[in-house]
Amino acid sequence: MPLSDLGLIGLAVMGSNLARNFASRGFTVSVYNRSPERTNEFIKEFGNEKLVGTFDYVQFVRSLKRPRKIMVMVKAGAAVDGVIADLLPYLQAGDIIIDGGNSHYRDTQRRSKELVASATGGKKIHFVGCGVSGGEEGALHGPSLMPGGSKEAWQQIKVYYQAIAAKDFSGRPCITYVGDNGAGHYVKMVHNGIEYAVMQLMAEAYQMLRVVYKQTPQQIGELFKKYNAGKLNSFLFQIAVPVLTRQDELKKGFLIDAILDRAGAKGTGQWASVDALERGMSISSVTEAVFARSTSAAKNDRLKLSKLYRMLPTKGGSTLGGKKFQTILENALYAAMISCYAQGYELIRKAAAEEKWEVNLAEISRIWEGGCIIRAKLLNVLHSAYQKGNSKNSPLLAVPGIVTLIKKHLPELRALVSFAGTTGVSTPSFSTALFYVQDMTTERLPANLIQGLRDFFGAHTYERTDRPGSFHTEWNQRTINN
Ligand code: 6PG
Repeated sequence: MPLSDLGLIGLAVMGSNLARNFASRGFTVSVYNRSPERTNEFIKEFGNEKLVGTFDYVQFVRSLKRPRKIMVMVKAGAAVDGVIADLLPYLQAGDIIIDGGNSHYRDTQRRSKELVASATGGKKIHFVGCGVSGGEEGALHGPSLMPGGSKEAWQQIKVYYQAIAAKDFSGRPCITYVGDNGAGHYVKMVHNGIEYAVMQLMAEAYQMLRVVYKQTPQQIGELFKKYNAGKLNSFLFQIAVPVLTRQDELKKGFLIDAILDRAGAKGTGQWASVDALERGMSISSVTEAVFARSTSAAKNDRLKLSKLYRMLPTKGGSTLGGKKFQTILENALYAAMISCYAQGYELIRKAAAEEKWEVNLAEISRIWEGGCIIRAKLLNVLHSAYQKGNSKNSPLLAVPGIVTLIKKHLPELRALVSFAGTTGVSTPSFSTALFYVQDMTTERLPANLIQGLRDFFGAHTYERTDRPGSFHTEWNQRTINN
């Protein structure tokens, strides 16, 4: 029996679909799943000469060409460590493990270290942490792939992974070597953070249209369809149309109205927020989106409190008015989305500097053009702007083409946020997207007052605008009770 090109462990939906994707590009894949029933089921359903079912690690490992390239598609966390520990005794120096789950990048860094020669009894096993985005369909037909870790291993695996990836706007595969240990999973984490932020913006837009403008889900679906044909063209706007317009099968009306307003989360948005806090960076649009999901989850409390506050004002009509509002909203969404990317990219830049990764933001924009959940025309705009600006790593807000776009649409974002403030509908993500751009482009912020206060009550010292050094003032304490 000829040896397989690749091995894949974990036949849940993502793993199965990736295995099928590799097979459809002509590669032979040996598959293994903890429960043999699942392997049998998979082979029965999709089996062909390119997919080889194996039932223990010895059989699995023996069936692979060397160096072995083994993709692990199991639940992030302890299961990944378990699979690696079980596999290790059968592997040889130079073999490659690729973790394609949503692993935390710190775990990926730890695993990379653990797999160096000293920890594996002299066998140097390569480890690649690969962000995979695109959900089930993406895995089957073309995901966006964010591999990081061993560069040597990347050279060996790229031919396979480039073949299964989605295509960008110029037809190139949506994959690039992101950077050293952990970089791939880090960039995937930020991708997910941006995914949270963009979905929250869409939800706030929906709420304004539904509550303030009294539009039906059908009308909002039609508007989003129109948006999707223009500058907001994206996977998320595309799928929002059927989500908004589907009729309920269990009772009369739109399904969206029957879906409980309590958002779940698997945690990557929270990871991104915590990481940003730890690095002293603001990704407030992502964090607001995480908070908004938490608030949504407090459904019972909200229900009780809403009875106490029935008088919340909401505008019946609109000072921004009808058709004009649709254009303002479209441009406000566009500007707010650019702000979300600017925040996410700044976090990547900071992490790359601290972790010593050579991340290329032009390339990150490019590989997100296709396959992933946040794929959008906007990513091509960002990619082109980086290329035209001849920069691959400057802050997004400093890239010339982006400066022009922000200047053009910021007034509409500001108008939307100020209008929303009068309606009783909350728009935390729109607001913070605006505030982020405003503050990052403001020379003098009021932090001087914060420094003065800190120095008053705690002698924390402050810096001055006109000379270097650290200063403390003996403030007149007697003023406290006056
Ligand atoms: C992707 C998605 C995927 C997953 C999210 C969902 O890129 O394919 O991001 O990774 O659907 O993690 O996250 P929440 O359950 O936290 O919304």
